This record gives sequence, structure tokens and C-alpha cells, in this order.
Amino acid sequence: MAEKKLNLIAAACTSSGKMGIGINGNLPWRLRQEMAYFERLTKTPQLEGMKNAVIMGRKTWFSIPEKFRPLKDRINVVLSNTLTECPSGADHLCSSVSEAVKLLSSPPHSQTVDMLWIIGGSAVYKAGIESPCCHRIYLTRVLKEIECDTFFPEFDLEKFKLIVDPAVSQDIQEEKGIQYKFEIYENSS
Ligand SMILES: NC(=O)c1ccc[n+]([C@@H]2O[C@H](COP(=O)([O-])OP(=O)(O)OC[C@H]3O[C@@H](n4cnc5c(N)ncnc54)[C@H](OP(=O)(O)O)[C@@H]3O)[C@@H](O)[C@H]2O)c1
Repeated sequence: MAEKKLNLIAAACTSSGKMGIGINGNLPWRLRQEMAYFERLTKTPQLEGMKNAVIMGRKTWFSIPEKFRPLKDRINVVLSNTLTECPSGADHLCSSVSEAVKLLSSPPHSQTVDMLWIIGGSAVYKAGIESPCCHRIYLTRVLKEIECDTFFPEFDLEKFKLIVDPAVSQDIQEEKGIQYKFEIYENSS
């Protein structure tokens, strides 16, 4: 069984020298176009007729407003070691990133699931970065200092190299007076 590659997608601001991603169980900002970028990337399979999967921690799942759960047109996988059954609306409950990768890389899912996207939070991103399947990190850098209590893990810039993808704008974006830019890091090992 060939294991599918993992992609991570996150938006992070600077927060006391770290990469802040959340505060009080929510996003620290509301950026519609940034959200649209997340939607476009996670929803669009590379292979026609297939669907992508999003893999997230329990808290990220429950942080999504109920009316937007599950994230539509994607297979929703929730990670937890305390939940005993799959949350209502989600497709699968797994106890680790590697279990999720194995599940989605095996029949029958291997035939219908295309890209795997890790969408947070902290510990799930860390497990994704440490996975041998980790391919790319799509990181939106929010160019503002904002207070956060949840952070994106540090990662090795020797291993994950900044690349240019023609499908992703390199321009500085701006919404509600907040500037941000899209970055992509690719596993070079
Ligand atoms: N800026 C962004 O791009 C972004 C993206 C996503 C989320 N966020 C923000 O981040 C915050 C939520 O993230 P969080 O880090 O607090 O929580 P989280 O990762 O969403 O959820 C944590 C829970 O997920 C389960 N879990 C995590 N890693 C696991 C693993 N490797 N294997 C199995 N289960 C695992 C555990 O559940 P059990 O305790 O049930 O075992 C853990 O307690 C919110 O503020 C949210 O808005 C921001």
C-alpha cells in the first residue's frame, strides 16, 4: 500500500516571537479571502472525480460553527483519543495522524480520496510535520503581532524549503487593514 502524501495548511501571525494560530478556541482574525484560499486548496482535488480529505484535532472540529460542519465536499477526519465515537457529521474518527493516513491510503478510500490536508491544531500539525508522508506546508503569514494561546510548531527550514507554485499568488494580500502572504514549504528530504 502506497501511503498518500500529507499537506498542512495554516495561517499564523507573529505572537511573542512564535507563530500564533488561535485564541480562546477561535481564530485570532476573520479574513474572508484567506478563508476562501483555504477552501479552494482543500476542496480542489488534483484528480478529477475524487475528493480531498481534511484531518483535524477534536478542538478544531468543534471550533467550526455547527452549520459549517462537516467542511463540505471534503472527507472530514477527526483525531481524538478521548472520543469513543465519530462526532456527528464527521466521516471518520482516528486516534493518530498515521492511522488516518493508513485508513485513507487503503481500499476503498484509496480509490476515492485524493489529497490529504492537515488543518490543525498544534499537536496535529506537529504530528504531520514529523510524519514521513509530510510533503508540503501551506503557511499564510499574517504580518501582524496578535495575542494568541495556540501556536504552529517550529519546523526545520533546512528540510522544508520555501518554493514558488504558479497557482499561488506571491503578492502581499490585505484585508481589514491586515496584511498577509501565502508561503509554501516543500519537504526536500
Ligand atoms: N490559524 C489556523 O490556521 C488554525 C487552524 C486550525 C485551528 N486553529 C485554532 O487552533 C485552536 C485549536 O487547536 P488546538 O491545538 O487547541 O486543538 P486541536 O489540535 O484542534 O485539538 C486537540 C485535540 O485533538 C486531539 N489530537 C491532537 N493531536 C492528536 C494526535 N496526534 N493524535 C490523536 N489525537 C490528537 C486530542 O483530542 P483528545 O483530547 O480528545 O484526545 C487533542 O486534545 C483554535 O483556537 C482554532 O481556532 C487555527
